[in-house]
Amino acid sequence: MRTCLIAIFVLGATWLAGSFSIAPSSHGVILIKSPQTVRAADGFAELPADYELPFGPNPFAPSNARTTTGKFIKQADFIPAARCAACHANVHSEWSESAHRNSFREPFYQANVKLLIKERGIAVTRHCESCHNPVALFSGALTTNSRIARPFDEEGVTCSVCHSIASAGTTGTGSYEIAPPALLERANGERVSEATDDEINADLPSHYRAVMRPLLKTPELCAACHKAAVVPELNKRKWLRSFVVYDEWQQSAFSTETVQPLSRRDRQTCQSCHMPPSTDKKASHRWPGGNTAIPAHYNWPGQSKATSDLLRSGVISVDIFALRYPSDDPCKLMAPIESVGVGLLSGERATVDVVVANKGVGHAFPAELRDIFEAWLEFQAVDATGRVLASSGAVREDGSLELDAHAYRAVPVGEQGQPIIRHDIWNTRATALDRQIAAGRADVGRFTFFVPKDAHSPVTLTARLNYRRFNRRFTDWVTLDTRVDRSPVVEMAQATIPLPITRAASVPASPRLPVSTSAASEFARWRAYGVALFDQQQYEAAAHAFDQATSLASNGSTEEASSRIDLAMTCLRMERAGSSQSVLDRAEKSLARALEIAAVNPRGRYYRALLNIKRFRYSEALRDLESLGREYPRDRQVWGQLASLYLVHRRDADAQSAYEHVLKIDPDDTEAHMKLAGLYWRFGMAEPAKREQDAYQARHTDTVAETMRRNYLRAHPELYATWPWREFGDNPIGSMP
Ligand code: HEC
Ligand code: HEC
Ligand code: HEC
Ligand code: HEC
Ligand code: HEC
Repeated sequence: MRTCLIAIFVLGATWLAGSFSIAPSSHGVILIKSPQTVRAADGFAELPADYELPFGPNPFAPSNARTTTGKFIKQADFIPAARCAACHANVHSEWSESAHRNSFREPFYQANVKLLIKERGIAVTRHCESCHNPVALFSGALTTNSRIARPFDEEGVTCSVCHSIASAGTTGTGSYEIAPPALLERANGERVSEATDDEINADLPSHYRAVMRPLLKTPELCAACHKAAVVPELNKRKWLRSFVVYDEWQQSAFSTETVQPLSRRDRQTCQSCHMPPSTDKKASHRWPGGNTAIPAHYNWPGQSKATSDLLRSGVISVDIFALRYPSDDPCKLMAPIESVGVGLLSGERATVDVVVANKGVGHAFPAELRDIFEAWLEFQAVDATGRVLASSGAVREDGSLELDAHAYRAVPVGEQGQPIIRHDIWNTRATALDRQIAAGRADVGRFTFFVPKDAHSPVTLTARLNYRRFNRRFTDWVTLDTRVDRSPVVEMAQATIPLPITRAASVPASPRLPVSTSAASEFARWRAYGVALFDQQQYEAAAHAFDQATSLASNGSTEEASSRIDLAMTCLRMERAGSSQSVLDRAEKSLARALEIAAVNPRGRYYRALLNIKRFRYSEALRDLESLGREYPRDRQVWGQLASLYLVHRRDADAQSAYEHVLKIDPDDTEAHMKLAGLYWRFGMAEPAKREQDAYQARHTDTVAETMRRNYLRAHPELYATWPWREFGDNPIGSMP
């Protein structure tokens, strides 16, 4: 596919005879510094005279990517992967089949970016290519009528991109700075891009300096491209968050940087999960994730297997947990379903709750582009003769998924309220629905069906968690451009249970039914159920589940402490929802007991602080939050609470530095921007006040979008038929726990 290697060096004539530099803070001025000859050894391209600058002087805007010199880097100065392959053959062959290598050329991306170019022109794709095709961006190829040959289109995120990144930030949308690629960096800092094999082998320390900086071991490197926002230059309107997998990880138990996760875990980073040692003990360069579509399209069994192995590695669990008769009191619940000896009532409707838990994904599941990825819970009830009594989440004949499936997906809508189906995020106005399961959390699907009098016992219930990359609508659309295969469906987890049909409501205790669900303890199952209900804002039911869990924990155990903190956390939410002081008393009692068992438990201390704030005991709250802030300097929630408490105490200077600290963890924290704007005004700091005000304005909630979201949902109740919260009316959905 190198046939496009034409017309490379015709460009000289069209380029300005001089170097330029960029002043990022200046507005509206195109800064092309006084012409001076660039030495070939510098390895930098110059600004072409006809390079479009619709977004100000920064030629890489609207992305956040930069070069260390502020200049272009020629395509020829990026070292082709084949050069590295000479000595790193295995790494090279893994990378060849990875999403990184294919990030530009693969048909799913191509169809989408071509649509963007058609609708908005090529310059705006600098946003996308900071992640998908950095070489095209940095070489100045992303401008109308560019004639730069682009051999690196075939290499996407190539070796010399990642291995030349000098620094990275957590703003995302390409928030990294790249140095001119080199094979050697001498002790004096001189970077050498061309070196023979002998020269490399003779000076490995210089090779390491050039290609292996400590940054590569940190998740912040990944954050630069695994966190993104849609910016006004792209949608002509407003800043919108698109995905934040880095933040999700950072707030999960796997980072060990925050106090809120429900359980403690050993630290795992993006690298440790996605680049585990390969057979040769080198960090894998396959980066398996959920992308089964790329390897299916190019027919790469090795990459397909790595991806489906990860998906099937037990990271998500499915548990058919509770049974209820809709005619009964909603609190009358039979669970765990197989151990209470229940049956299905003949001639009645039954409701089954299935719990899906995200146990091992280090961020939300599914991550990132939920508008085109497809993960869902499939449910079936089949009687002894094979008659189907209930079926949800089946793939239809035309390959599409039923709209009423219990799916983890996002539904973005455009200006006219129409769903956005081609991933044209630049046309997105609001997100009507966004379902996911955060790391360490759970979700519940509720399935109701009728058991006819002539059904044959037993009825087998089956639940499956499926994943498909991509949904059928999207692949059908891509196929109009390039023929692509249907994405395979991967079954990530499954549970089955046979239930007898009975004639009476109360069933004599029967022996335990054979179960194929996870071997998790009953305590863990009740707790997961409680968390799932909590995340669906079913606080009463969640409190009940946490009480059950507590009763199963042995006295004085860490399990007891955990479920008591869960209950306190739930009571605090119930109080916010308008319940009386008595729930606060309940929270207080529960927390007191938890902290009696585990006095230093950070989660317990955190909720104690929240409770003390509610009870106006600010000094006590401050004491907890200040010590937690010291122990967990990267916990945005602790620091956010601390900042607002300082404001209450009129300690404005402390509040200011606490909010500034929050922005160091999350540069997009809306509240911090708003509060800082006020504080800076108060201190007479007009310039930063203005900056914070602008940042807040761009990020604050869009009320029109909120209305559009509600209208869309009201028109499509089938989208959430299986969510328990729907029984309770107009609950906010898609909100993070
Ligand atoms: C002449 C052979 C040769 C070439 C070409 C070469 N390397 Fe290396 N590289 C080595 C050797 C030898 C080592 C040290 C042993 C090892 O780790 O395999 C090494 C080590 C590395 C390491 C560090 C491993 C560590 O343990 O810290 C990285 C990263 C690396 N190379 C990246 C690259 C990249 C990227 C390219 C292409 C731009 C490249 N290399 C080209 C020979 C080469
Ligand atoms: C911050 C980096 C970043 C930016 C900016 C970005 N993307 Fe992506 N894009 C990604 C990542 C990462 C994925 C893979 C998601 C995953 O695997 O979970 C992706 C996936 C995609 C996919 C699905 C392809 C596939 O095989 O998974 C399409 C289509 C896409 N992006 C289009 C675009 C377009 C068009 C733009 C510009 C408007 C854009 N992206 C901007 C990082 C980015
Ligand atoms: C998406 C970014 C990225 C790309 C693309 C990439 N690497 Fe790496 N590479 C890394 C990171 C991150 C590490 C360190 C992983 C770790 O040790 O945790 C690494 C490690 C390495 C190592 C050391 C492996 C070990 O365990 O000793 C070598 C060698 C290497 N890369 C070579 C290459 C080559 C050759 C290519 C292209 C064929 C390439 N890399 C492409 C990010 C990248
Ligand atoms: C220069 C930008 C860039 C950097 C840095 C980067 N990625 Fe990516 N990554 C991408 C893009 C773009 C895609 C999606 C390509 C596509 O599907 O078209 C992607 C896809 C992935 C996938 C998805 C694979 C799948 O099967 O869905 C994983 C996993 C991944 N990256 C992990 C990492 C890790 C871990 C790091 C840090 C060591 C990292 N990435 C650094 C740009 C980047
Ligand atoms: C504890 C292990 C773990 C950690 C830590 C982790 N991941 Fe993942 N990641 C997974 C698993 C398992 C999957 C597959 C399930 C899925 O698709 O969500 C996955 C999927 C992905 C995908 C593909 C999303 C999709 O739905 O297809 C991307 C991209 C990704 N991870 C990037 C990252 C980045 C970037 C980091 C660090 C900020 C990270 N991951 C940290 C385990 C982890």
